[in-house]
Amino acid sequence: MSLKKISFFLNGEAKDVYANPGDMLVDVIRDKLGLLGTKVGCKTGGCGACTVMLDGLAVNSCMIPVGKVAGKSVVTIEGVAENNELHPIQEAMMEDGAVQCGYCTPGIIVSAKALFDENPNPDSEDIHRALEGNICRCTGYIKVEEAIVKAASNIRKEG
Ligand code: FES
Ligand code: FES
Repeated sequence: MSLKKISFFLNGEAKDVYANPGDMLVDVIRDKLGLLGTKVGCKTGGCGACTVMLDGLAVNSCMIPVGKVAGKSVVTIEGVAENNELHPIQEAMMEDGAVQCGYCTPGIIVSAKALFDENPNPDSEDIHRALEGNICRCTGYIKVEEAIVKAASNIRKEG
């Protein structure tokens, strides 16, 4: 099948990529654009390991054909830290021991960032709902959710 030029914004930078429009976004991000932070788990939309933000919303990039992102903004885990500083979500996850094997972690952080960008004052229920598509086989979620609650509180304090 012939490759097409597909242009979109990746972590704030304009990118052109030559791909089959039906190729899944996660594969293009990892294999053509070399950003390996976005993980591949189930490839059926069930685990959240591949979560990225698409025009601000958390989506499973294993379910999005890259042709659908033309002209849109994609943010991966590599785009979450700003000015060489970890995002408060990343800091809280590290401080609170919410990372074990880390396979789920990029997707969780991206889902939490999408939530915080939309709702800077999420309560525990909002956080629980935002993360329900992100499966973790190691931590059992308690530490993860505690870290996200702490990050929300830290962001509020920083104003
Ligand atoms: S790899 Fe995409 S949801 Fe599991
Ligand atoms: S830390 Fe291992 S799957 Fe979540």
